[in-house]
Amino acid sequence: MDKNKIIIFDTTLRDGEQSPGASMNTAEKLQIALQLERLGVDVMEAGFAAASPGDFDAVNQIAKQASNITVCSLARAVERDIKAAGEALAPAKNKRIHTFIATSPIHMEYKLKMSPDEVIKRAVESIKYAKTFCDDVEFSCEDACRSEMSFLKEICDAAINAGAKTLNIPDTVGYLYPEEITARISEIVKFVGDRAIISVHNHNDLGMATANSLAAIKAGARQVEGTINGIGERAGNAALEEIVMAIKTRQDVFAPLYTDIISKEIYPTSRLIASIIGIEPQPNKAIVGKNAFAHESGIHQDGVLKHKETYEIISAESIGLEKNSLVLGKHSGRHAFKDKLASLGFDLDSDALNKAFEKFKELADKKKEIFDDDIRALVAEEITKIPQAYEITALLQSSGGSLASASISIKHNDEIISDSALGNGTADAIFKVVDRISGISGTLKDYKVASVSQGKDALAKVDVKVEFEGKTAVIGHGLDIDTMMASAKAYVGALNSYLRIHKN
Ligand code: KIV
Ligand code: ZN
Repeated sequence: MDKNKIIIFDTTLRDGEQSPGASMNTAEKLQIALQLERLGVDVMEAGFAAASPGDFDAVNQIAKQASNITVCSLARAVERDIKAAGEALAPAKNKRIHTFIATSPIHMEYKLKMSPDEVIKRAVESIKYAKTFCDDVEFSCEDACRSEMSFLKEICDAAINAGAKTLNIPDTVGYLYPEEITARISEIVKFVGDRAIISVHNHNDLGMATANSLAAIKAGARQVEGTINGIGERAGNAALEEIVMAIKTRQDVFAPLYTDIISKEIYPTSRLIASIIGIEPQPNKAIVGKNAFAHESGIHQDGVLKHKETYEIISAESIGLEKNSLVLGKHSGRHAFKDKLASLGFDLDSDALNKAFEKFKELADKKKEIFDDDIRALVAEEITKIPQAYEITALLQSSGGSLASASISIKHNDEIISDSALGNGTADAIFKVVDRISGISGTLKDYKVASVSQGKDALAKVDVKVEFEGKTAVIGHGLDIDTMMASAKAYVGALNSYLRIHKN
């Protein structure tokens, strides 16, 4: 084991998926998993196998297709979870079970209702059981950063003796600041010595996840957990791209520490994830935000033109950001399209490739210039597709003043149903027709429109959040050159998700 290497543990597909609205299906997770391999992460937490049959399937498919990367599944410290993780991971060449139990007084008393001794006993039993499935077992002390140090040491000791190779000290609620993490991790590293690798997993509730992760690395942690774009539970996880680029850019501080991340794959990975889950990083987000390399003020622009490094500490090229290049057009053939998809990180089977190519040709008929982001959005939409209960086949709309009308045809159970309605604005009319056709009434909770790339003929991407029949709101995404058609697709997409979740 190289003591200077920082192991990058990606949990985009597990903790990242816990971001509201970020759930992914197996096909989407597979695409992301393959890109994470290209990015060079060392361990990929592919999911929480026991959570649902869909989660089990995703972990299992990733385990089958991953090559050298370590594929990991999360499991609570209960037999059922560990068994599901072990079985889902069985086909992986390199596998890890990540089991956890809470160790803070507040979690043990109120959530687990277990005494500290019972928690240690459960942790030990779970690690031993996990070891019957694979040798590589990680143990996490959930809410470690609000746990008592003496108890942390006791449980870490027991975990090592039971066979855990990595001990994770998560800041589950994003509470600590860097000096506190430094003190905590230094003490644990000193206590554990060479007996296990110390890992950190920082949440971003106070905006300190990256700083805390870097402080922990300096204090001796040799594994860092996080997600791409910083997605995750609540305010998210530490953004891996920030940690990796900080280590690379500030070698004056971090050398000889290094990661094996291929930095040129950072931007393609970030774009792939954003287009699949429909959540864009904030524009000023470090490293991958739209403005991260944009110089707005005259003074800055002048400086950068004279000498780039006046205002740029990292280059756009180093993270694989090429200007939104004009790529394909109406006359581009299947071969060029396939090459482009590969360069954007997509790996489609021939059926999906044919469908994506058809979509591309349809778009090329309507839109003169097709950019990388258009292709990403289009393909992400295609791979998201699973059999849908309702599908829009036609939309006619007209409006005058605030009154608008919409006529829609929808395919349902191999039958085309058409109807129309009036509304206060076109979107309102569209949503009313969909409600009428499905017989399920929805309340719009959120509605966002964005253009995928540039130009007056840019593709519109609409994201909606809809509450159907008073149940928890679901998310829908729609993509079309026509904003109203994109809105209709998004609303119908939300309806289909609702039916999948609540009526199956
Ligand atoms: O935040 C957390 O504590 C977690 C654990 C399951 C590692 O996600
Ligand atoms: Zn977490």
